[in-house]
Amino acid sequence: MSANHIVVAQLGCGYWGPNLLRNYSAQPGCRVKWVAEQSAARRAYVENNFPQTRTTADWTEAVSDPEVDAVVVATPAATHFGLAKAILAAGKHVFVEKPLATSTQEADELIGLAAGSQRVLMAGHTFLYNNAVRHVRQLLEKRELGEFYYIYSQRLNLGQVRSDVNVWWNLAPHDVSILLYWLNGELPVSVSAHGIADIQPGIEDVVFAMLTWSSGVVAHIHVSWLDPGKVRKMTLVGSRKMIVYDDVSDDKIAIYDKGVDRVPKIGEKMDYDNFNNYQLIYRAGDVWLPRINSQEPLKVEAAHFLDCIRSGRIPISGPQHARDVVAVLEAGETALKSGQKVAITPAATPR
Ligand SMILES: NC(=O)c1ccc[n+]([C@@H]2O[C@H](COP(=O)([O-])OP(=O)(O)OC[C@H]3O[C@@H](n4cnc5c(N)ncnc54)[C@H](O)[C@@H]3O)[C@@H](O)[C@H]2O)c1
Repeated sequence: MSANHIVVAQLGCGYWGPNLLRNYSAQPGCRVKWVAEQSAARRAYVENNFPQTRTTADWTEAVSDPEVDAVVVATPAATHFGLAKAILAAGKHVFVEKPLATSTQEADELIGLAAGSQRVLMAGHTFLYNNAVRHVRQLLEKRELGEFYYIYSQRLNLGQVRSDVNVWWNLAPHDVSILLYWLNGELPVSVSAHGIADIQPGIEDVVFAMLTWSSGVVAHIHVSWLDPGKVRKMTLVGSRKMIVYDDVSDDKIAIYDKGVDRVPKIGEKMDYDNFNNYQLIYRAGDVWLPRINSQEPLKVEAAHFLDCIRSGRIPISGPQHARDVVAVLEAGETALKSGQKVAITPAATPR
């Protein structure tokens, strides 16, 4: 790294990689020197659209380049651990697409390597850099919902079917990451899950999971590759208000002044001794659509990774958050396969 100039290599440029490449290439003080990609067609895409970036079929050529400071990993989830481990061993900072790894054991090993070599380790939990998600967190911090009851999340579409991981590991990292962020980093205490593998034997393409927190908050996650329409919706229900966050709608957030109030009727008939006497009043007031600044989350995410390299700050989606997401996903996978509710235990030492 010369002065504040950071040289980046990217591994993988399939469906998602071009979004990362475009954003890192546009960051001031950053040059994407390499894209390593196994597919000749995808290398041709990079050569045609990013002529200042070199391509190679061999990722070790890019990672071993002494000029490279940081590596962005945009390959399938099952490859993340092996590549990130080699990148950290080569002394480079690493941004790994979500999920960081496919087990907590792997995540812990990466975290240990990054800490030992004082390199930045960040996972691509894009929604933590999304202004709508951040706005909902602010509403929760101000206790706008009153007592927080429950959340349900739907992340559904037809495809992109994977074969290295099931839909739980592919789509639910987003839901889990957002839920942890909204609930101030607190881990759920347990998870139960039910899945269906209709397309590929043994690889669930639809999962329904239930997460429970010690506060009593529960969250239901429904993820699917086998659905007629694209849905990216999370609904939060509290005693005073309700929120719908719809990522594919123009109005990302709707806040409803709706609820059911228990109004005491004590004393109405001079029955001062009967404290159980109450009436349920349904409240349906105004709906607010707050204006959300539509900054591209990936641009904020890329800037944050580079800033953490320059400043030594710990990323928002750094070791602790990325490891917690993997811990919840791993417990969910055990629940899915066993049909049992699985307890989640926090890491012995906070990251
Ligand atoms: N943050 C998000 O919102 C988001 C969205 C989609 C995907 N993703 C993540 O991005 C990653 C990639 O997903 P995708 O949909 O682009 O997958 P993809 O299969 O379309 O692309 C992966 C690419 O990596 C290449 N590749 C695999 N191993 C390689 C290696 N060792 N060296 C060089 N190239 C290699 C493949 O040739 C392929 O082109 C996954 O981890 C996925 O979870 C994140």
